Amino acid sequence: ACVVLDYGSQYTQLITRRVRELGVYSILLPGDADLKRIESHAPRVIVLSGGPNSVHVDDAPSVPEGFFEYCARESIPVLGICYGMQLLVQRLGGVVEAARGKGEYGRMPVVYESSDSVLYGQGSKAGEREQVWMSHGDEATKLPEGFACVGKSEAGAVVAIEDPKRKLFGLQYHPEVTHSEKGLDTLRRFLFDVAGVSAGWSMANVLEEQIAIVKEKVGPDAHVICALSGGVDSAVAATLVHKAIGDRLHCVFVDNGLLRYKEQERVMEMFRDNLHLPVDCVDHSEQMLTRLKGVTDPEKKRKIIGAEFIECFKNFKGEIEKRTGVRPTFLVQGTLYPDVIESCPPPGSDQKHSHTIKSHHNVGGLPKELGFELVEPLRMLFKDEVRKLGAIMDVPRAFLARHPFPGPGLAVRILGDVTADNALDILRRADEIYINTIREFGIYDDIWQAFAVFLPIRTVGVQGDQRTHSFVIGLRAVTSADGMTADWFPFETDFLKEVSTRITNQVKEVNRVVLDVSSKPPSTIEWC
Ligand code: XMP
Repeated sequence: ACVVLDYGSQYTQLITRRVRELGVYSILLPGDADLKRIESHAPRVIVLSGGPNSVHVDDAPSVPEGFFEYCARESIPVLGICYGMQLLVQRLGGVVEAARGKGEYGRMPVVYESSDSVLYGQGSKAGEREQVWMSHGDEATKLPEGFACVGKSEAGAVVAIEDPKRKLFGLQYHPEVTHSEKGLDTLRRFLFDVAGVSAGWSMANVLEEQIAIVKEKVGPDAHVICALSGGVDSAVAATLVHKAIGDRLHCVFVDNGLLRYKEQERVMEMFRDNLHLPVDCVDHSEQMLTRLKGVTDPEKKRKIIGAEFIECFKNFKGEIEKRTGVRPTFLVQGTLYPDVIESCPPPGSDQKHSHTIKSHHNVGGLPKELGFELVEPLRMLFKDEVRKLGAIMDVPRAFLARHPFPGPGLAVRILGDVTADNALDILRRADEIYINTIREFGIYDDIWQAFAVFLPIRTVGVQGDQRTHSFVIGLRAVTSADGMTADWFPFETDFLKEVSTRITNQVKEVNRVVLDVSSKPPSTIEWC
């Protein structure tokens, strides 16, 4: 494996992903992980990430005691990126100082200082240039013994260093971001030429490996259950587990009464016809809506929905025990790698290690007292890798590219009482028109999440020759990397004209459509 030590740069996950894209399994550990923990992953190569700190501040994060001795002993090549390079320099006896100028940030060239360097490859020539994404306030002013400078910035700062004998390398810029034209080539040379690792990490391998792991963990007799949400992660996880243990997997899809237009039919059809997964559909909508009647407080709504879901799930567990004579002991969850990464704490934070945890738990958040052992076959994957894995198991593409949908469903998109005013039905129809129009305009994949919102207020309008007093639909669409922050999506005017006309023409209860132009923060993506 390639171990990436995280010193808090916004690009740290990207390094891990780039290394994986090159076919090498890579994991992220906190920058101050102790040596034992690093050793336990048997790294063939280590990358020290960038970070917002200066090596000069008190408590600046650093590699553990004995790190470089360990790497030398095991002949593990190390690449320091940005802050990581400064750590290398400082810890090995060089000098890092505040940049003479103001530091250098953004797209700019690196100028090669020597020919045939290891980082830039055979045939590279002194004086050649390459565009890179630079970011530094400090710079190395004296290199440790054994190091050569092989690249400088235009302002003359040392930005690429190597000590091929000890297999230590440093880059002051970010080879992992796409603005660094040939950054991937540099990473490739480091991994394959210097470290001599082989590219064996692919989704086909992951599939095979995970199937074996699930078989081993579950054993020959145990039964396993899985709640499918209609989202990508649970569907891919369940499909994989089904390949491993066949019909000892029992899936349930709960219709909580808060689903999108025809969602139950569509999802069940896909599970049955495309994935051949055994899925029970539990229609809990009546009881759910009875419980939600008159509830307007958003948190109360969420709590009720969560509790009802758990009840359904418990019933399902009992039902499977009755059906098979075996009490299910394992639970499949679609947990992804970003949910389990321990990141470096943000500067100024007093958290030791902030866990990057989703602020909301989907149906995955089942209480521990249900007493299941977890099966989490996607635990080491990023979302795009899950999509690739799904694709090789023939999960339909349209499904894999779906926007996320929250567990509490349309209840967080209807302000106030979800049972009043026929709101669910109105919202479903408006949302369906909105999403279909987005697909027609070919922009679905440019958007992280799009949905309509129902406002339980009536405004005055004129439809036909009649004065009306009808509801308002809000349109929300955002771009985002992970849902933690988001920007509103800039629709073209033609799209907005079309979608507004369609909604007000086809949904007679609506006479006004408004667009949400708020980012997160300060807004959240959902409205409640
Ligand atoms: P917010 O509204 O907090 O949403 O900006 C961020 C992301 O999380 C989804 N979301 C939820 N997902 N249960 C879920 O499973 C919830 O209670 C929940 N609330 C919000 C939201 O759709 C967005 O993708």
